[in-house]
Amino acid sequence: MANVVVVGAQWGDEGKGKIVDWLCERADVVARFQGGHNAGHTLVIDGKVYKLHALPSGVVRGGKLSVIGNGVVLDPWHLLSEIETIRGQGVEITPETLMIAENTPLILPFHGELDRAREGQNSLARIGTTGRGIGPAYEDKVGRRVIRVADLGDRATLETRIDRALVHHNALRAGLGLAAVDRDALLRDLLAIAPEVLRFAAPVWKVLQEKALVHHNALRAGLGLAAVDRDALLRDLMAIAPEVLRFAAPVWKVLHEKRRAGKRILFEGAQGALLDVDFGTYPFVTSSNVIAGQAATGTGLGPGAVDYVLGIVKAYTTRVGEGPFPTELHDQDGQRLGERGHEFGTTTGRKRRCGWFDAVLVRQTCVTSGVNGIALTKLDVLDGFDTLRICTGYDLDGQVLDHLPTASDAQARCVPIYEDMPGWSESTEGARSWADLPAAAIKYVRRVEELIGCPVALLSTSPEREDTILVTDPYAD
Ligand code: GDP
Ligand code: IMO
Ligand code: MG
Repeated sequence: MANVVVVGAQWGDEGKGKIVDWLCERADVVARFQGGHNAGHTLVIDGKVYKLHALPSGVVRGGKLSVIGNGVVLDPWHLLSEIETIRGQGVEITPETLMIAENTPLILPFHGELDRAREGQNSLARIGTTGRGIGPAYEDKVGRRVIRVADLGDRATLETRIDRALVHHNALRAGLGLAAVDRDALLRDLLAIAPEVLRFAAPVWKVLQEKALVHHNALRAGLGLAAVDRDALLRDLMAIAPEVLRFAAPVWKVLHEKRRAGKRILFEGAQGALLDVDFGTYPFVTSSNVIAGQAATGTGLGPGAVDYVLGIVKAYTTRVGEGPFPTELHDQDGQRLGERGHEFGTTTGRKRRCGWFDAVLVRQTCVTSGVNGIALTKLDVLDGFDTLRICTGYDLDGQVLDHLPTASDAQARCVPIYEDMPGWSESTEGARSWADLPAAAIKYVRRVEELIGCPVALLSTSPEREDTILVTDPYAD
């Protein structure tokens, strides 16, 4: 039974939600494996619009198991409010249909505050994040101080975890030079010897915790943030714990058993490969690995669990937030793409930057994600342009490049080399077969395939689920 990974092949918002929803009909399990509620996936089903952020797109289909894998970072309060919203649209969500890996890290309120505080600082530090605490939560995961879903099950563990996290955040804010120097030095010294002391004396640990709290609040004050109220945080987490724990499960084991029973798993990526923390336009990236290899580690299966990688590719290019974008348009064509494509962020409502299709980037992301075939979306948005431009290479200081260089300064200097193609005046909106497409549109699609070195498996011609042309079935064994 072929398992499929869906990944964005540009800077996100390629239409992953729609394609996952479409593929979902024939899947048994839909699993998110990275990102968090920075994602915004829009599904349109019989005219009804669903906007999903943390929940896998599988939830709107009855009879499917939706899974939030350990590679995701999860804001438990957001989760419950999203469940409420989606329930309000008539979708049933129960622990039988939604399962969250017990080892999933939690996004806490101070992560969002830190994210937004950093974004509010000088322009050098700005990434243009969604402000939802994604980066700080991943930092805490790698820093071994994050609180995980399973920790919600035991008050004593939770207290320890909170204190552990606060120790770090206090120190971080101290590093910004916002608190009294003498106290910082004392605390740093104490924290430096803490691991040694703690091996022998539990009471010392308690003293350090208390000192750490005092320090943390001083640092937050320096950032202009209110002090973290530890007891209130603990109370809030305890209040939400039973609700969240209803959905918690050893996802790696459940998925393993599903596979053995011959069930089909659809891995739902968020963001896009150019926002990948390793292979994206660093530092203007998100804080997780986005590329298809993450599907395995983000759910707890081996690399052999993936049979087919479907890259979702928009027929032009968009980006939200800061960072290089070689084919960005600041003219009427860009405005037209934005208006026809309704390019406003699903999560933050920000206007998306728009530009011509960049074949160099997609050729590159097809390699880094091992894409077997692409779903080309929003072809209909290109209806009515006289001429369409495709970027086939970059001119970097007089040299022609066939890939995006890694160095930021070089990325910024890349000038796109374009190939022009005739547009079409007919409408492709809602087309459900090749026969419905004008010859120029087919030519455009074929040229895209050639330039990116990857075939089109699916073609999408409207937001509606059914307006999809199947060329090659990703599930075919
Ligand atoms: P995602 O984050 O990759 O799931 O994408 P978003 O939902 O953020 O943005 C894609 C937008 O394009 C959504 O509003 C979709 O409903 C819409 N969409 C998806 N496919 C098509 C398509 O083929 N044509 C048009 N016109 N809109 C589409
Ligand atoms: P979906 O799944 C588009 C962008 C943000 C910012 C950068 C870092 O809907 O395609 P973060 O909050 O993750 O630390 O922000 O990443 N970004 C997205 N852009 N679509 C997304 O998700 C995105 N998720 C994050 O705009 O530039
Ligand atoms: Mg989106």
